[in-house]
Amino acid sequence: MEANEHRNRMTYGNYLRLEEILGLQEGPADYSPAPCNNEKHFIIVHQAFELWFKLVLTELKQVHKLMSSEEIDENSMPIIVHHLKRVSAVFDLMSQQWKVMETLTPQDFLSFRDRLGTSSGFESWQLRQIEIILGLEQQQRDAGMDPLNHMKKLESEGKISAKVLAEFNSVLQAPSLNQLLTNWLSRTPINGSITGNPGDQDVVSTYIDGHLSAMRAHSDIIISHFESIGHGDESTMRERLNKSLSNAEQFLRPNGEINRSRAGLLFIESYRELPLLSWPRELIDSFVDLEESILLFRNSHARMVERMIGRRMGTGGSSGVDYLDATLKYRIFVDLWTVRTILVRRDLIPSVVGLEYYGFNSQH
Ligand code: HEM
Repeated sequence: MEANEHRNRMTYGNYLRLEEILGLQEGPADYSPAPCNNEKHFIIVHQAFELWFKLVLTELKQVHKLMSSEEIDENSMPIIVHHLKRVSAVFDLMSQQWKVMETLTPQDFLSFRDRLGTSSGFESWQLRQIEIILGLEQQQRDAGMDPLNHMKKLESEGKISAKVLAEFNSVLQAPSLNQLLTNWLSRTPINGSITGNPGDQDVVSTYIDGHLSAMRAHSDIIISHFESIGHGDESTMRERLNKSLSNAEQFLRPNGEINRSRAGLLFIESYRELPLLSWPRELIDSFVDLEESILLFRNSHARMVERMIGRRMGTGGSSGVDYLDATLKYRIFVDLWTVRTILVRRDLIPSVVGLEYYGFNSQH
């Protein structure tokens, strides 16, 4: 064989750049003494997570690109859903990965914890980018925790590169997936009418009124059932159900103005079985799955941390487990969760107007 052919031969090691990647588990340059077995385990587990974060980011950027076009191409729908499913699968896997971390005992961890100084997962810029691409906003975060400002500080101290900060800013400036999804939902055909059609506002308004009446009728059924079995008194129940009705009105018509995106979302969730809505409902389900997977991932991290360090302060200076538990309240796709509260039993909601529009053979 010619020397040249040897040189061109692809191998497992050079395809994956294994020597480089497997040479990075010894801690920072000049780390002395070298990490013991337990500390190496700690480093490897973190690096494995960061590699998964990298895959998640790559997938989400692809989804972002496909969802950024003015009108999302219908052929892109299965591709978007496919990428989102992969992201959820990665988060589900990562939720299990804490088990590997838990093989470290609290005492083993304490033996090297002080070497970490103030370094903390709080500084994981990949997880922050994931949150931002999805649409978590600063005001939704636990009070006082501002990872973005922290990133700027790290960059000014030369602890992260200008490139990392620049990537951050570009993600921050682009519309989030939540915003893109909201825009897309606002174009949902409701009872056969699409945005921009003359009379669309009236169609949507009538649709909302019909749904709210169905909610009212449902409330009456619930109350008479409770009364018939002597469970609770009417006035308390009526007050509660009226509150949820006014919340529904406020959700669909905040300050009296129709929110077309939420009306579209309600329409898709209410008439899920319509053929034309099959990909839209898949898309919504994929975002709900993803947010649920992220919450479970956050929860299993918090439980692992509680087991490892109890209620002590985090190396990043936060309250530790209390802070991590506060992040479990985060919801990015707020509307997708809220709509569930106002759904009504199938047999009580009005029939779809213009049903043929939503059939498989529809030309629309
Ligand atoms: C012994 C193992 C670990 C302990 C005791 C631990 C503890 C903590 C604590 C206390 C925080 C809150 C911030 C702070 O004050 O430091 C935190 C945040 C975080 N940790 Fe861990 N952690 C561990 C392992 C990991 C691993 C393996 C990862 C994988 C990358 C990770 C990722 C994160 C992330 C992303 C945050 C930020 C969470 C947020 O702000 O929403 N942690 N961790």
